[in-house]
Amino acid sequence: MTKVYVRGLLLGLTALAASTSLSAQTADPLAPQGRWSAYEGGSAALPPMGWNSWNAFFTEIDEEKLLGSAKRILDSGLAKKGYRYINIDDGWWLKRRTNDGKLLIRSEKFPSSLRAGKDDPSFRPLTDKLHAMGFKAGIYSDLGRNSCSQAYSTGEAQLPEGSTAEREVGLYGHIDQDIRLYFADWGFDLIKVDGCGIRAFGEGSAPVKSGKYRMLAPLIDQASVTRSDVSAVQGLFSQINQSLARHNPDNDYLLSLCVWGSANVRAWGKDYGNSSRTSDDITPHWARMLTNYDSAVRRALYAHPGSWNDPDMLFIGQGDFDAEHLTEARSHFALWAMMNAPLLIGADLRKTPQSLMDIFGNADLIAINQDAAGHQAIVAFDSDSLQILVKTLANGDKAVALFNRGLSAVDAALTAGHLKFRDDQAVTLTDLWTGEQRRFTGEQALKVAPRQTLVFMAKGDRTLADGLYLSEQPGNINPAVDGVTAPAPDPTIFRSIPGWRSTRGLGERPIYAGWGGAQPDATPYNQPLAIAGKTYASGIGVLANSRLEIRNKGYGRLTAMAGVDDSAADARHGVRFAVYGDGKLLTRTPAVHRGETPKPISVDVKGVALIEMVAQADDGVAGEMLPVSWGEAALTR
Ligand code: GLA
Repeated sequence: MTKVYVRGLLLGLTALAASTSLSAQTADPLAPQGRWSAYEGGSAALPPMGWNSWNAFFTEIDEEKLLGSAKRILDSGLAKKGYRYINIDDGWWLKRRTNDGKLLIRSEKFPSSLRAGKDDPSFRPLTDKLHAMGFKAGIYSDLGRNSCSQAYSTGEAQLPEGSTAEREVGLYGHIDQDIRLYFADWGFDLIKVDGCGIRAFGEGSAPVKSGKYRMLAPLIDQASVTRSDVSAVQGLFSQINQSLARHNPDNDYLLSLCVWGSANVRAWGKDYGNSSRTSDDITPHWARMLTNYDSAVRRALYAHPGSWNDPDMLFIGQGDFDAEHLTEARSHFALWAMMNAPLLIGADLRKTPQSLMDIFGNADLIAINQDAAGHQAIVAFDSDSLQILVKTLANGDKAVALFNRGLSAVDAALTAGHLKFRDDQAVTLTDLWTGEQRRFTGEQALKVAPRQTLVFMAKGDRTLADGLYLSEQPGNINPAVDGVTAPAPDPTIFRSIPGWRSTRGLGERPIYAGWGGAQPDATPYNQPLAIAGKTYASGIGVLANSRLEIRNKGYGRLTAMAGVDDSAADARHGVRFAVYGDGKLLTRTPAVHRGETPKPISVDVKGVALIEMVAQADDGVAGEMLPVSWGEAALTR
């Protein structure tokens, strides 16, 4: 049974058809809502920046290590540049006390926790200290009864101790109690919620067979979205949302979802949290970085202020990203900055050489990541060797990155068209690594070394002088319903060797669902947008039976050429396009079919806060392979 998520209600479509208790308005996912429906809890107007213990220390975290890195962030000036979260990952807990369910801290590793008394250790002294240093503090838990290290650690270092029940330190069955402890009692500001407890403790799994852990029927199968219980996972996050609201009256918290791109979370993470992991763990290997990058880079429309794609923490400082590999380290940082990824340092900063500190401290790249408009870069030129990413900034300037993924140098041509700038006017580029400036008209030749990322601030005359194409403002768009009814893995994500499995097994097959999702300047299957033989360099590609929500930042007119994309499988199905302003119908087109000229749309949206663009197939079941294009979709003054 296909499940559709509609504003907090989980509805099975078949049940829905039979239901009489729901109004048609609530039941139809394509009906206008008149409000932004993505998650609005918490506080993440900009991508979070800070430090996390995992990549440097795994479970072996302690207070001294944590404060050592925090101190370096403060002393080096990184704190002033925005690095503010200091996050404890897995390894902090000792056990769950069985008489009252309270979690106990591994106090010998966090001595300040004993100040509250031996029987009731508290993280409050540590969070007080971090707050006094100007930081925010983050904690870690799991959706299930047990954590990832309990499933996968090879040794026993800092794993929870005691009886089976005492070792059940995850949120399962304790959501409200634990969230209250973390936020109201201990004063944390962020929680990362992992998911191994609902994935790795099934019957016959190694941890359960060891006799040390209780069985919990898995809700997530990482390799298969069809074998994951998506609505059950969403249900757990919903409960966490409610507890967070209850124990954070000022809404000042951050919820970081960590289910590694599984269970179709790349489509719905934005509806439940402030950041959401799009892939499995990064490792300090170039190829793994590519996997994680790919899992987020084509999901620009699924991220916006309040909810960010998270391709995992920075691994700068180790392996392919250490001080001997500055080209790779700079690329890693520049790509994360362009994608509006959380900038969470994963290095032991007590020992990090200055050359790497300078990368973390590149103020221009930080400014790009933290730009107020919150538009993730989009892929303006795509190939398996070189890619050009372009990010529209709040002032209309562009940040542009040329990323050489390949093995040989590339002679690239950056065109004004990539930037959506006029090609008859000068464009100024400032290199954000060297400060060097250049000017060009039309196009600029640039040599990009293997694994290098050139990154520039670009100023020029915008093609659309009095507005923005929708594809230039992904941060204002929420694909509330993207038309994907049968989630399928995205084949464009680089498949690397998972470090922890090596080449055992069958290898890394496509596993991250999201293929067919909405795209800026491309169809859902990564083709150029084309309607009736004409290609469109700008526009939004999405499947039929979709509803896009657009925050209107003061524009007066929405225009688009709407039609069925030439890449659609057949010409049998008609699609009607409708635009709503704050819930009221502004225009609706007659049905168009593949090959028919697009319908021009031009509506007054003055004073409208929320625009909704709906593409509805005349035959309700035809949406899956029916790409439609909102060609040249733009908002103008
Ligand atoms: C999972 C997460 C990592 C880290 C570990 C801790 O693998 O994806 O980021 O939190 O668990 O065990």
